[in-house]
Amino acid sequence: MEATFDLTGKVAIVTGGGRGIGRAIALGLAGAGATVVIAGRTAEQLNAVTKEIAALGGQALPVVTDLTVSDQIERLVEETVKKFDRIDILVNNAARSFLRSLLELREDGWDKVFDTNVKAAWLLSRSVARVMIEQKGGRIINITTVGAEKAELGMAAYGCSKAALKMLTRCMAREWAPFGILVNAVGPGLTRTDFSKPIWSNPDIAKHVESLLPMGRLAEPEEIVGSVLFLASDLANYITGHSIYVDGGSLTT
Ligand SMILES: NC(=O)c1ccc[n+]([C@@H]2O[C@H](COP(=O)([O-])OP(=O)(O)OC[C@H]3O[C@@H](n4cnc5c(N)ncnc54)[C@H](OP(=O)(O)O)[C@@H]3O)[C@@H](O)[C@H]2O)c1
Repeated sequence: MEATFDLTGKVAIVTGGGRGIGRAIALGLAGAGATVVIAGRTAEQLNAVTKEIAALGGQALPVVTDLTVSDQIERLVEETVKKFDRIDILVNNAARSFLRSLLELREDGWDKVFDTNVKAAWLLSRSVARVMIEQKGGRIINITTVGAEKAELGMAAYGCSKAALKMLTRCMAREWAPFGILVNAVGPGLTRTDFSKPIWSNPDIAKHVESLLPMGRLAEPEEIVGSVLFLASDLANYITGHSIYVDGGSLTT
């Protein structure tokens, strides 16, 4: 049969699915037919996205989860399997950041960024991979950033954490390919979400930043979704260990 973007019958977990890029990915996966488990700390946001998906005829389950607490990571996986019996797709999207120079950044700030952006992604992927191994396959997609490649001022902890996540993508891809688990990354450029609000909400800063981007504008969250759907689909059956940057050309500069 011809490969398509259709994800009917698949079960996906999206971390940080309550807002921003994660919300767009959750809606996109549901639109392609997947059942989506949405994890994050803010129950109201998870419930709102669950309702949006239901209104479009899809199925979603909100699971309030603090990904920096390993017991809660295990509970997220257990609840997903208990309710839906399987996990086909994991999108490690949740992340945090601080704008601090390396001289001002505190040790606990560095740890918080790495605990959320790297350690949690590894712990959740490990737990999900155990389920996927039983199923003989699955997809893991890690959301990184152009900051994994470029040194952005004040973003060192974040950039280093995402560079680590990019390498974790390759390591997981290599170790888990024999089990049919394909692991790739999607790296957005600047995207209009709460995360980047300090940039786009200030007209002077926004104008300056946009002038540096080859496409002359930030991405909208929905523009990140296509690459995730592609990597989750049968169209990407022989792709593993790679990063796709969805950045309007920013890495060409
Ligand atoms: N926006 C950009 O310009 C941009 C550019 C490049 C890459 N990215 C990447 O895209 C992804 C999504 O970013 P975004 O812009 O959509 O950011 P956002 O609006 O700030 O959303 C971040 C999400 O992560 C969740 N999260 C944070 N810490 C968590 C924790 N300890 N446990 C569970 N969930 C947690 C948040 O939910 P709760 O707070 O409810 O827990 C929220 O849903 C991130 O990986 C980010 O690095 C963003």
